[in-house]
Amino acid sequence: MRIVLLGPPGAGKGSVALLCKTRLRLPHLSTGQIFREEMAKRSPLGRRVGAYVTGGRLVPDALVTRVMVNRLTSKPHRAFVLDGFPRTQGQAAGLDRALERLRLPLHGAVYITSPEALLVRRLSGRLVCSTCGANYHARTMRPKRPGVCDRCHGALATRKDDRIETIRRRLAIDRRTSKPLLAYYQRRKALYRVDGRGRIETVFVRARRLFHRQGWI
Ligand code: AP5
Repeated sequence: MRIVLLGPPGAGKGSVALLCKTRLRLPHLSTGQIFREEMAKRSPLGRRVGAYVTGGRLVPDALVTRVMVNRLTSKPHRAFVLDGFPRTQGQAAGLDRALERLRLPLHGAVYITSPEALLVRRLSGRLVCSTCGANYHARTMRPKRPGVCDRCHGALATRKDDRIETIRRRLAIDRRTSKPLLAYYQRRKALYRVDGRGRIETVFVRARRLFHRQGWI
């Protein structure tokens, strides 16, 4: 199965992608996670994207597309889940061109939907493992031991872009960019919607049902 997970910040893209990785053994690539790792290493890429990511603004299309196309072509996978990419129509077209060259066309773009008030609540309580990237939530998805990751025992931290004013900026940018992106996949008859409300397990079950229905897994 080769899919992209779309949805506003906080929709649950990262959480669903991680379940696809652990339960369905699908390779998972997240632009946000790649950028945060590069920022932590203070690499040239990390320094270029740092201000965009912490400020909640989009990294320019040409740079994001180059990073992702390099990752996809340097070690091509027959199956993958992309999370956080593409985020604009330009990125989607760049991805399609790269996948055509690899003869690995996309099966679908899965859009996770949720009301905005819920997105704000989720993002404002999010905790992320600084070692493995697993997501928790201070109220709704608590770790067994406070501040410690259940999976790898890494330290949990709040993301710098999860301050309320940055969350609002990210949501506003998403409102502008998502319409043309969704229209792009709609035109290709490749757009599928999954209700993102409820527990993450419930959302994952809905997504997995879609994958089965479409014959992707
Ligand atoms: P990125 O890391 O991709 O952030 P985002 O798109 O804003 O998405 P989030 O990770 O905030 O949300 P999510 O949908 O993955 O939700 P999650 O599962 O974490 O990107 C960060 C930055 O990098 C961008 O702002 C930009 O600067 C840059 N960037 C990245 N890609 C780019 C691109 N393609 N182009 C340009 N720039 C790019 O869940 C959120 C929280 O809610 C968690 O705490 C989770 O535990 C909780 N939660 C989720 N679902 C549920 C549920 N069903 N029930 C209970 N809790 C839930």
